[in-house]
Amino acid sequence: RTDRTFTMLKPDSVEKGHIGAILEKITASGFKIVAMKLTQMTTADAEEFYAIHKERPFFGELVEYMTRGPIVSAVLEKDNAVEDFRTLIGATNPEDAAEGTIRKLYAASIGENAVHGSDSDENAEIESQFHFAGREIF
Ligand code: CMP
Repeated sequence: RTDRTFTMLKPDSVEKGHIGAILEKITASGFKIVAMKLTQMTTADAEEFYAIHKERPFFGELVEYMTRGPIVSAVLEKDNAVEDFRTLIGATNPEDAAEGTIRKLYAASIGENAVHGSDSDENAEIESQFHFAGREIF
């Protein structure tokens, strides 16, 4: 099967009206959308999703940010999806992100960095199942 990855257009992207432009860039880069919805994470959702960062000093700020408004979550399909999507979004810190990447274009800071991309095939599967029921993934 073609590889899949999981993404979220984070609250800052939705607030700034960047949903359309970011999705256009994603699909123009060869990713097929196989699941997508607009939802708002609860505090409990965000604490669970980002549990790996629980001990980090920015954890509280991260949970506040990710729950302050709706996000667009999606599952994307493409050969080499995880790695290619991380290349497309660019470095976590937009100051380090390459020209033309989504974070270079749309992210404000290392904290408010516009988009999420899974960091492994295993996490892509876990994160997709966290956000979507089986019947929502095509
Ligand atoms: P992401 O890599 O998708 O997942 C972890 C998130 O934590 C990261 O995006 C940022 O939104 C946030 N983050 C990472 N490093 C920092 C930092 N130094 N300060 C604030 N937020 C951060």
